[in-house]
Amino acid sequence: MASHKDNEGAQPEPQEVYRRYPLLPVQGIPLMEPIVRSWARVEDFEAQPDDILIATYPKAGTTWTQEIVDLIFTGGDVEKARRAPVFIRIPFLEMCTIGSFPAGIDLLVKAPSPRVIKTHLPFQLLPKSLLEKNCKIIYVARNAKDNLVSYYFFDRMNLVQPDPGPWDGYIKKFMEGTVPWGSWYDHVQRYWEEKANHRILYLFYEDMKEDLAREIRRVKNFLEVDLSEDIVQKIAHHTTFQVMKDNPMTNAEDVPNTVFDRTISSFMRKGEVGDWKNYFTVAQREAFDADYRSKMEGTTLRFRDVL
Ligand code: A3P
Repeated sequence: MASHKDNEGAQPEPQEVYRRYPLLPVQGIPLMEPIVRSWARVEDFEAQPDDILIATYPKAGTTWTQEIVDLIFTGGDVEKARRAPVFIRIPFLEMCTIGSFPAGIDLLVKAPSPRVIKTHLPFQLLPKSLLEKNCKIIYVARNAKDNLVSYYFFDRMNLVQPDPGPWDGYIKKFMEGTVPWGSWYDHVQRYWEEKANHRILYLFYEDMKEDLAREIRRVKNFLEVDLSEDIVQKIAHHTTFQVMKDNPMTNAEDVPNTVFDRTISSFMRKGEVGDWKNYFTVAQREAFDADYRSKMEGTTLRFRDVL
């Protein structure tokens, strides 16, 4: 079984290599310092026409979509999908080497075609080559308040991302876009607009929760992969929250506790729609919603049940 530890040249580093990195801007988008230091490699990334990009704002359902896409390409072969952790099977484009974790680009140069690539980059930071080659993009968006809650718990437990600080202050950081990968509002809107110019399938986390098989059909049609309804149902079963939570190839079990502090939160945390209601006070909700309305005023993009 492959794991990130098998990667050529990746030597385990002392534990102190894992630290909460500060953010630095790339074209105004805050990214973790080591990503910025190796930014030239991301910019110069050479795409292939059959590359497929899974683009998301962090915590919108990336891992879920990665597993679905991998299962579509394996024809629903669950054993094949267990060949490696999902972050090896579908490399993270902009992620640089951190400790024993290989850089996404190092994995991609060795990956067979069609390569499936994960990114959290906002549209304007995508490597030019991906757009010039007209690569297919699957974008997944999640309603802002659930996305925020999920990100808050993730930033607390992920010991390489900046400390989120107290909950109330974190809401403000999210609204200002001073969290890693920048503004949620700009991210979701820009990919929505770019549907008119590029091959983008735009999915919603809430739709996937509502009818997963329906959304899997949309993905396989977009990828032009022929699958029977039985296989679609099999993939839907294999990608339910509980099955993925129990699957060591999707639940980030490989990531050491020195990076993911599971005493704070698990990587597969709750997987629900509307969890924000458990965390926002009435005052926080009102302030957030007023700001949301002004930031989302000019777009046709609509999320369900979020205000
Ligand atoms: P919660 O923190 O709300 O539980 P990403 O993969 O982009 O980091 O997104 C992580 C979020 O997606 C987490 O949300 C996680 O639980 C949820 N998630 C992962 N797999 C899921 C699945 N199969 N069904 C529903 N939600 C899932």
